[in-house]
Amino acid sequence: VWLLGARGSVATTTVAGHAAVVAGFAPTTGLVTALPPFDGAPLPALGGLVFGGSDVTDVSLPKRAEGLCEAGVLPAALPDLVAAALEEADGEIRPGIPEQSGEPPLEAIRRLQADLTGFVRRRALDGLVVINCATTEPALSPGPEHEQLATLEAVLARGSAVLPPSSLAAYAALDLGFPFVDFTPSTGAHLPALAQLADRAGVPYAGRDGKTGETLVKSALAAMFADRNLAVHSWSGINLLGGGDGAALAEPARAASKLRTKAQVLEGILGTPVEHHVEIHNVADLGEWKTAWDRVSFGGFLGVRMRLEFTWEGADSALAAPLVLDLARLAWAARQAGESGPLAPLGFFFKDPLGGGGYRLDEQWERLVRWVGELPSG
Ligand SMILES: NC(=O)c1ccc[n+]([C@@H]2O[C@H](COP(=O)([O-])OP(=O)(O)OC[C@H]3O[C@@H](n4cnc5c(N)ncnc54)[C@H](O)[C@@H]3O)[C@@H](O)[C@H]2O)c1
Repeated sequence: VWLLGARGSVATTTVAGHAAVVAGFAPTTGLVTALPPFDGAPLPALGGLVFGGSDVTDVSLPKRAEGLCEAGVLPAALPDLVAAALEEADGEIRPGIPEQSGEPPLEAIRRLQADLTGFVRRRALDGLVVINCATTEPALSPGPEHEQLATLEAVLARGSAVLPPSSLAAYAALDLGFPFVDFTPSTGAHLPALAQLADRAGVPYAGRDGKTGETLVKSALAAMFADRNLAVHSWSGINLLGGGDGAALAEPARAASKLRTKAQVLEGILGTPVEHHVEIHNVADLGEWKTAWDRVSFGGFLGVRMRLEFTWEGADSALAAPLVLDLARLAWAARQAGESGPLAPLGFFFKDPLGGGGYRLDEQWERLVRWVGELPSG
């Protein structure tokens, strides 16, 4: 598994958590693929996964793991118990493609491809899944900008100053035949030209933006209102978070990416316009924790007005990391099954499911389980 943003909170929790589960130090809580419907599915064994990746920081994985202990995300004893795994993965981390670096896109792509193939060769791997867990990039403006990037040639003609690193990485992976998964709201493979590349190369990809907190709850609760024919009048949510993600989302252009993926779920489920507010605030004091407050105003029989409020307190990386492991296993299984293009059955994991399939958590779950059940074995 090649993690972009390999030294971030999500990636560090993924590597440390994987080692802990495989060694039997921790249960599989939070891992969807550990549930009974996935028993017997042709997924790679958890113990068979090894990790490498790229990042733009030099802070080592063991150091990041210490920081996550101090933040209360990882148990204090864990970094020592999984020290060998953290060191091993850290030794496989290479310099990422920085934003606005000015490196010609083809050179950046070839450099990453050399890192990917070097990892596969060195570790004698059967294959690779590339998963983007890097800092959220500023949103590309929709419409004309996307249109200009409608062909592979146009993508390559653009300087990396305007083409985001996530898309260069998606290109690098798909071009080599490796599935690409976007756990972030960044552009990644979400460009017509990259969809074309995936089709041409016959490679699957999935995304985008892991659904781990407020939007996860929304995608379950909105379905409840819809099924009971209750009229949702407004839904307002405030998200407070710290950590690297909080700091990045304090920049309006990056927050715009996140707000965009968060925005579609409600109307997608309810089918009617809803007054909808989502705010994101960086509260450094919260560290790796996130609070979401939501207030739903709804109407029932005879127009009677009612209200639901909830508070979600999450350790974001602990929610995200097991899903990264699930996605690595599922994307690899899809590749083995010969699937290509956007993996709609993995929509269960994402705020903005590429490939469609709707936003309702219950339907996404059923689709995922059905799809896994139909994967050809061996
Ligand atoms: N934690 C969750 O529940 C959750 C849910 C959905 C999406 N996400 C997304 O996952 C991503 C990671 O979150 P996090 O909490 O680990 O953030 P983080 O700030 O802790 O980690 C991000 C990492 O990406 C690295 N990075 C920045 N630019 C890079 C580049 N161009 N190439 C390679 N690496 C680069 C940073 O140096 C850092 O190590 C964010 O985009 C976040 O929005 C997280």
